[in-house]
Amino acid sequence: MSSNPPTEHRGLANWSLRARLLVVVVALMTVACLVIGVVTELALRKYLLGQLDDRLTSAVDRSVAGADLPPPPDGDRGPRFLFAPGQGENTLGADIDIDGNIKAGVINSKGDFEDVSASAQQTLKDLPTDRKPHTRDLGEVGEYRLIAAETAGGRTIITGLPMQPMQDTLAQLGLIMAGVSVMGLAVLGVAGAWIIRITLWPLRRVVVAARRVSELPLHEGEVAVPIRVPEADANPRTEVGQVGAALNRMIDHVDNALRARQASETRVRQFVADASHELRTPLAAIRGYAELARHSQEPTDIVHSLNRVEMASARMTTLVEELLLLARLDAAKNPVREPVDLTRLVVDAASDARVAGPDHRWQLDVGSDPVVVQGDSTQLHQVVANLLSNARTHTPPSTTVIVGVRQTHNRSAVLTVADDGPGIPANLQSEIFERFARGDTSRSRSAGGSGLGLAIVAAIVAAHHGDVTVNSEPGRTIFTVTLPV
Ligand SMILES: Nc1ncnc2c1ncn2[C@@H]1O[C@H](COP(=O)(O)OP(=O)(O)OP(=O)(O)O)[C@@H](O)[C@H]1O
Ligand SMILES: [Mg+2]
Repeated sequence: MSSNPPTEHRGLANWSLRARLLVVVVALMTVACLVIGVVTELALRKYLLGQLDDRLTSAVDRSVAGADLPPPPDGDRGPRFLFAPGQGENTLGADIDIDGNIKAGVINSKGDFEDVSASAQQTLKDLPTDRKPHTRDLGEVGEYRLIAAETAGGRTIITGLPMQPMQDTLAQLGLIMAGVSVMGLAVLGVAGAWIIRITLWPLRRVVVAARRVSELPLHEGEVAVPIRVPEADANPRTEVGQVGAALNRMIDHVDNALRARQASETRVRQFVADASHELRTPLAAIRGYAELARHSQEPTDIVHSLNRVEMASARMTTLVEELLLLARLDAAKNPVREPVDLTRLVVDAASDARVAGPDHRWQLDVGSDPVVVQGDSTQLHQVVANLLSNARTHTPPSTTVIVGVRQTHNRSAVLTVADDGPGIPANLQSEIFERFARGDTSRSRSAGGSGLGLAIVAAIVAAHHGDVTVNSEPGRTIFTVTLPV
C-alpha cells in the first residue's frame, strides 16, 4: 500500500465528466448566442441608420427648398421650413443667419413648435456644414441625426431626425433575442444533461464490472474470473465501448495468467509428490535389506542384502541427479554453447546401445558430412542416449532401431530415432514429455524407469531452442528432434 496522501485536485479536474461536458456545451452555446446577437444588432443598426439617413436627406431637400418661405402670421418663432409639406413628427430644424443668430426647434406630435435648450443650440451651431449626416446628443430632446446645409444667401439650414425610434427597435430586438437565448440555453442545459447521462450510462456498468472483479478473492481457491463487461457495452465503435472492450481484454489476460499459474502450481505439487514417491521405493528397499542384514547370521544373505542396498542407492542417486538436471534446465542460467558434431555423437551413442542391447537390431542413417550444432555436448549426448535407451527398454528383443541425422535446407539439424516395436499407447502420447509420465508396463520392476527420460529430453531440447515430437503407432515409433544449426 502506498503511504502517499491523495493528491488534492482543485477546479475543473475535480468535476465529473458529465458536469464538464454540460458546462462546456452551455458555455459554447452562450458564446454563440452572444456572437449572433451582437452581429445581428450591428447589422440591423447599420441598415436602420441607412434608412434614417435616406429619410433625413429627403427632409433636408424639403428644408432647403422651403428655407425662404414667408414667416407664418402667428409669429416668427422657428424656422419656417419645418412646416414645409412632408416634414414628419419630431423633425428638428435650425436656421443660423450670417451673424450667428439661431432659430431652432422641433415639431411635436401635435404639429406644434417646441424650442430646444441653449446648450442644444450651441451644439447645432458647432455642426460642420458639410451636408453629411452627424449624430449629436441634444439634451432633453434626445439624440438626433443631423445634416447642415449652407444656402446661397450664406445661411446655415440644419435638419434633424430623432434616433430614438431606431434605438427603440434595436433595444426591442435585443430583448427578444436575449429572452429566446436564455430559454434556449435552459432547454439545452436540461436536455444536454439528460442526453449526457444516457450516453455515459454504459460507463457505469463498466465501472460496476471492474469493481466486481476487484472484489473477487483471487488470492485463494477459485482462479477463474467469470465477470465481463456486457457485450453491448464493449462495442469498439464507441468510446465507452472501447473502455469496456479494453477491460474485457485485461480480464481475459488476467484470467489466462491465473489459470496458467494455477496449472503450473499444480504441476509443481504433482512433481514433488511424484519425486517423493519415487524416492520412497528405493528407501524402503534400503531399510528392509539393512534390517535383514542386521538380523541375518548367513554371510551370503548379508552380501545379497548389501548388493540390493547398493543397487537401491544407485537408483536413488540416478533419480536425484536427474531431478537436479531438470531443476538446472528449468533455471537455464548460462547454457554452454560449443560446436557439437551430432553425427559423431549419434555414432558413439548407437555403438553404446549396441553393447547394452545386443538382442536389438541397430541401424545408422547418417551422411558423410558432419552436422554441427551449437550446444552442450554432454546434454545432447543424454538426449540421444535417453531416446536409444527407451527404444531398447520399451520394445521386445529383435526390434529394429534406426538412428538418423541430417541437415535440412532451412538450416536445422534433424535427429530421428525410429523403431518397429509395439508403439506408445495413444492416451500416453499427449503427456509423454511430462515429468514422471510412463506407460503401465514400465512400472514393472524389469523396465524400472522413473518416467523422467523424455522430460529430460524435452527440457534439454527446449534449452537449445529446438523441438521434439513423437509419432507412434503399433509397429512404428519415431522420435524427431529438430535443432537450429
Ligand atoms: N520407443 C518406445 N516404444 C514404446 N514406448 C515408449 C518408447 N519410448 C518411450 N516409451 C513410453 O514412454 C514412457 C516415458 O518414457 P521416459 O523415457 O520418459 O520414461 P521411462 O523410460 O519409463 O523412465 P526413465 O527413462 O526415466 O528411466 C515410457 O515409460 C514408455 O511407456
Ligand atoms: Mg526412458
